[in-house]
Amino acid sequence: MYKIPAKTLFTGKNLVFVPECHSTNVLALELSQKKGAAEGTMVITNNQTRGKGQVGNVWSSEPGKNLTLSLIIKPTFLAIPDQFYLNMAASLALHDLLKTVTAETVRIKWPNDILINEKKTCGILIENQIQGNSITYTIIGIGLNINQVRFNEKRATSLKLITGLDYNLQAMLDELCAYFEQWYIKLREGKSNEIRQAYYGCLYKMEEQATFSDKVGSFDGQIEGVDDVGRLIVNTGQGIRYFNTKEVQFNFP
Ligand code: BTN
Repeated sequence: MYKIPAKTLFTGKNLVFVPECHSTNVLALELSQKKGAAEGTMVITNNQTRGKGQVGNVWSSEPGKNLTLSLIIKPTFLAIPDQFYLNMAASLALHDLLKTVTAETVRIKWPNDILINEKKTCGILIENQIQGNSITYTIIGIGLNINQVRFNEKRATSLKLITGLDYNLQAMLDELCAYFEQWYIKLREGKSNEIRQAYYGCLYKMEEQATFSDKVGSFDGQIEGVDDVGRLIVNTGQGIRYFNTKEVQFNFP
């Protein structure tokens, strides 16, 4: 059970808590399509049994240990090609939250992960509903590993594994909602440059030499940013390349 976050104007004010569900993103999508939903409606569960990850992956989360939630927003003010700013706003909110609880290195890994010490602590799954020229609803699904200590994936971690401490999920939720709302309001106010600059400041391997792989093989390059449609911009020394999600991967050491 969760309480309505205290520090926000609209984020999480309409709180839909379900003890168990397959996927909060699926529930949120149904809610927005069938009944409509107020801006900032949040669907949250203690036990997500068939969590959706990126490109058909499954997101697993131990019951009661982590945050698994979906926010419904209505970014009708945002031009469709600018939809990656929603990803930036959500990523920045999670980055800010994690920075308040750990002095370790927190980075946003393009396009959807938040890393602590190069390990994945959080995944974001954004699903847009588009009608004509406008984004009518966006579902921002967030899986944030907090108190879970056992993972099957080598590159997964949690706050507890990093700091050794237990966290109050409600307190984390309250702060997350407040940070998200701050960034989302900036977006509504048209402060997209500020958002982009903040995002670049937290972006994993930004302007650092790194090794990547694409479907052809591995190559070295330096991230120069993300373009307006959310493609990763990599300078390989031989030229600038643009990558969509899943067209490129980082080679971790
Ligand atoms: C990823 O890194 O692959 C994205 C994972 C997103 C997981 C969250 S958990 C809450 C919400 N509901 C889902 O079914 N998925 C997202």
